Order: sequence, then C-alpha cells, then structure tokens
Amino acid sequence: MEICDTIKKAREAIARLRKGGGRVGLAPTMGALHEGHLSLVRAARKECDVVVVSIFVNPTQFGPAEDLERYPRTFDADCRACEAEGVDMVFAPAPEEMYPPGYETYVVEENLTGVLCGRSRPTHFRGVLTVVLKLFNIVKPDAAYFGQKDAQQAVVIKRMVSDLNLPVDIVTMPICREADGLAMSSRNSYLSTEERRDAVCLYEALCRARGMIAGGEKDARAIRAEMRKIIGRHDSARIDYVEIVDPRTLESVETISRDVLIPLAVYIGRTRLIDNICLTPEGREILC
Ligand code: PAJ
Repeated sequence: MEICDTIKKAREAIARLRKGGGRVGLAPTMGALHEGHLSLVRAARKECDVVVVSIFVNPTQFGPAEDLERYPRTFDADCRACEAEGVDMVFAPAPEEMYPPGYETYVVEENLTGVLCGRSRPTHFRGVLTVVLKLFNIVKPDAAYFGQKDAQQAVVIKRMVSDLNLPVDIVTMPICREADGLAMSSRNSYLSTEERRDAVCLYEALCRARGMIAGGEKDARAIRAEMRKIIGRHDSARIDYVEIVDPRTLESVETISRDVLIPLAVYIGRTRLIDNICLTPEGREILC
C-alpha cells in the first residue's frame, strides 16, 4: 500500500496503479476509521480495480467554535486498517498542501445546504464540497463512496456532481451501527459513559418513527412530536433538529405519502451527533 502526502505523489501513484485502464474507487474520510468507513472501502474493493482512501481532517468544513483541534487523529491505526482491507493508496495531505497561502476558491450549493445541518453549520457544506471536488480532481475516481450516515452530505454531493457534470459515480452505503443501535461516528469517542448510554436515544427515536409509519401514521407532526419526547427523556440530550423531509429536495413533508428521510441532530452533552432513517410510506427502510 502506498501512502502519499502530496498531490504530485498521489497523481503519480494513481497513474501507475491505473496502468492505463482500470476503475478507480475513492472513499473520502477524515480518519479515525471505524467499521462505517471500512464498509465504504470494502464496497470500493469489490467494485473497483484501484482503491484510494483519503484521510484529511478538512479545516474548511469546521466552524470557528467547532472541534477541528480535538478531532480524533489515529493515522497509524488508520493505515493498518486500510492495508488490511487491501487499499492500494492512502492520500493524506497536510492542510497547507490542500489550502496553500492565497487559497480563495470555494464550491457553494445554493439550496440544499440552507436546511438541516446547513442551518446550524452555515459554512460546513461549502467546505465539504470544496474538498470533495479537490479530491475528485486529484484522484480522478470513476466511483466515490459515501455513507448514508451523512445523508444531507450525500444529497449535496450528488447535486454538485450533477450540476458540475463531474464524471464520477456516487455510491451510498447503509449506516453501520453499534450493537445498541448508535450510529458509528468518530465523534462517539467524545462521549462520557453516561452520555454514551443516553446517545442511543437518537436511534430509539428513529425506530419509533419507523414503527409509527409502519403502523399507518401519516402525520409528520405527530411523528416528530413523539421523537422529541423520546429524546427529551434524557438529561444530557438537547435537540438541534428533528425533521421529516423529501429525500431529494430536503423540503419538509407534512403527510407521509412518498418516501421520506427522517434526519436528526442532537447534542449529547457538548457532542453533536447526527443520524437518520429513510423509509417508504409503508415503513420499509431504504437507502436514499
Ligand atoms: P467522515 O466523517 O470521516 O466520514 C467519511 C465517510 O464515512 C462519509 O461518507 C460518511 O458518511 C461515512 N460514514 C461515517 N460514519 C458512518 C457509518 N456509521 N456508517 C456508514 N458510513 C459512515 O464525511 C466526512 O468524513 C467528510 O465530510 C468528507 C466527506 C471526508 C469531506 O471532508
């Protein structure tokens, strides 16, 4: 496995690995790899000839009061995990390599990024889209793998790929969860023992929503109220948002008559966690 820390070395390595043909798959990550990340790597390994994982804690997607400094960094363990999954190349640039002095170009999506996480993190998706486009331009993948865990991110990236005619297939993979249902996240490491126990309330609320929809409930407001009640029982939990939206437009839905995405963001103590479920009107879980 090659480890490249500059754009030049990465481009040379990919040209060599691609050998003129061959499908290149990219799994972009910020490291602190867990089974969720590795599920993307495994899908890429199955479907592509060359698998690239990027590990880059992207400063432009963090707000000024957010956790950029203390975001977990476990580079050596990440490389071992990638090696074990048969990854061909890890691209791990320093921040100055991606954003040298004088850097001033960003990608802005003007509709889908104004809601949900975009409301509480107004510059987040600008940073995500900018770094993802840069990674696409450096790696030139035929396919790129993203998790349903960050559902809005996947929707916004698909929008960029379509709007900017980028020649890359976007593949989304299901959410990997801990045994009790908590969605795996690098940020789960911030939780105290007590908070870790409370954190399962996100999944409990989603399961309740699924149960209500499967039982024929059509009123989104009633479902949201029930979800808020479940989360509200936990002392350490503070809701950022609980929404029921159209999975493509991210617009609020009042009556459950088509597929819906139910995303939520909840602070557990000082840690902001997100989770979601995508459901048919019959309450069957789907990828969106
Ligand atoms: P990061 O949070 O490291 O996640 C990298 C990828 O792993 C994302 O596509 C995310 O949706 C996926 N992922 C995370 N947890 C998952 C889980 N429990 N199950 C399935 N997939 C999961 O998302 C980012 O980094 C960044 O915004 C990035 C796209 C790399 C741009 O900087």
